Amino acid sequence: CLNTVETVFRRSVGTEPIVAQTEGVQDNDYGENDAPKSLYDLMAHRQEQAERSVLISCPSRTSEKKFLKFLSKHGDIKKHFFYESYGVYAVVEFGSRDNVVSLLDSAAIPIVSHDSTVPFKSRLLALRNHSSVDSASQPSSLPCQPQTTVPINELIQRLSREESIDEQISSLTEAYQLTEENSRLRFLVCSLLKDIAAAYFPECTIRPFGSSVNGFGKLGCDLDMFLDLDSISGWNLKRPKSGLSLEYQMKRTNSERHVTQSILSVIGECVDHFGPGCVGVQKILNARCPLVRFAHQPSGFQCDLTANNRVAMKSTELLYLYGELDPRVRSLVFTIRCWARAHSITSSIPGAWISNFSLTVMVLFFLQRRTPPIIPTLNQLRDLAGPEDESVIEGNDCTFVTDFSKIELQRNTDTLDQLLSDFFEFYATFPFSRMSINIRKGKEQNKPEVAPLHIQNPFETSLNVSKNVNTSQLDRFVALCQESAWLLQQSETRTPRGVGVGDTPAAWGLATLLLPSQVAGIKGRKKRKREPASERIKSLLESLKNKNEGKKSSDS
Ligand code: GTP
Ligand code: MG
Repeated sequence: CLNTVETVFRRSVGTEPIVAQTEGVQDNDYGENDAPKSLYDLMAHRQEQAERSVLISCPSRTSEKKFLKFLSKHGDIKKHFFYESYGVYAVVEFGSRDNVVSLLDSAAIPIVSHDSTVPFKSRLLALRNHSSVDSASQPSSLPCQPQTTVPINELIQRLSREESIDEQISSLTEAYQLTEENSRLRFLVCSLLKDIAAAYFPECTIRPFGSSVNGFGKLGCDLDMFLDLDSISGWNLKRPKSGLSLEYQMKRTNSERHVTQSILSVIGECVDHFGPGCVGVQKILNARCPLVRFAHQPSGFQCDLTANNRVAMKSTELLYLYGELDPRVRSLVFTIRCWARAHSITSSIPGAWISNFSLTVMVLFFLQRRTPPIIPTLNQLRDLAGPEDESVIEGNDCTFVTDFSKIELQRNTDTLDQLLSDFFEFYATFPFSRMSINIRKGKEQNKPEVAPLHIQNPFETSLNVSKNVNTSQLDRFVALCQESAWLLQQSETRTPRGVGVGDTPAAWGLATLLLPSQVAGIKGRKKRKREPASERIKSLLESLKNKNEGKKSSDS
């Protein structure tokens, strides 16, 4: 029957200002009138759903109808879906926490002959060969929701069938962004982990941050989590409300960093020994931002758990806000991130590459530099903030407006096609050797220190978010921007080609930019016949030069 597995611890635009339009969150299930205003509203909603949800491993012969009937004995099922990850799993959201308690009460702790069990009932369960949920026709085909993106070659074909570059960009965004189900699963994994961390800190919360929630996440991206102890640590309390204060002693620690390391160390141990489905646990406590890394097998997520990382939460909130202000922001970020990955400018392995976070900041900076700008600068967002938005973290001013309705956008009607071409031109000719990218001011600044690529950290302003990037990685990025800018100027690239050999459409437009590059020194997936790179780059530089000279003479 139903057993606990290893239970057992093992928007719109317009020159007169207009008010920002939120496009709605791609994956919400709110009504028209109660759409979330801020990331915090959305997160609180998803978190609450997650607490009423369970994750169940299903045998291949499960009948959906019988499965639901069987579970509904414990209460109303608000939502459910299936997906595949080392077998089929179901996420089931009940109407209340009590329903989950009832379900867990009925679940047995498995008898494991070679091991002693730990009496901990997690909400990760397994349905084992239960006759009342068996399908008559075998094996049953449960409707599984995809949790990963389409392979790049399939994406290239899909894009080649579109009729304009604008449509290609929208189609890419559609194919890559997190689905509602994937977002729910991310919150559920945080909630399951919170049950483990609660052994030490009963009132803690584990929240996702980074691309899982900032609106720029791609299916399959890692799950960044943040152990939030704010509600219990008293950080937010200015003075005790009564005569009583807690006897509070942190042993063998003398700094906040040590406290964070100790907390993550014990939780890492706990996850390693008793976390159901958590494998390959690594404690990386000496990093600038200490973390516990592991794979959560039932969801397929690579997880990074951090603590005391409130600035990252603020960056997440800021990126989310920018993405909500105008739909072109997300589409351009998705496209550039996909293009960068296709050419190995970014990588899942840490190294001297440009990170997705840096790349996103570069796109935001480019959009601030449009005439008129598509998005405001961070300083403008700070000036719109009210007292309720005030936030100073470790001496860093992290204040910016959170009420989207106070933000006025300028009317800019650039198409995505135009923005994409201009992005490549912008960075193909950006003076990286002298200037730093600064989204707080929305204007490049003289570099404060030597580094091939300097992108000012928006909140910790003395830091460079792309400090890890070396000259050769920056050169590859610039060469690829030059090549892509050049390609997008060619009528050959800009014309839909129709169906090629077999039923395969010939690549054109954005799809061409995702094919392996021919730029010298850049590794491609496979060779294509094209004229020599140097000739193409030479002609690109000529055409860029002519264009810039044309612009200068029209400016003067
Ligand atoms: P993915 O590559 O899809 O995981 O993108 P991501 O935005 O989640 O990036 P990552 O997992 O590397 O980092 C998670 C979050 O931490 C980011 O969204 C930022 O909010 C923050 N972050 C990452 N790198 C930096 C950095 O160098 N400086 C600062 N201030 N924050 C960072
Ligand atoms: Mg991430």
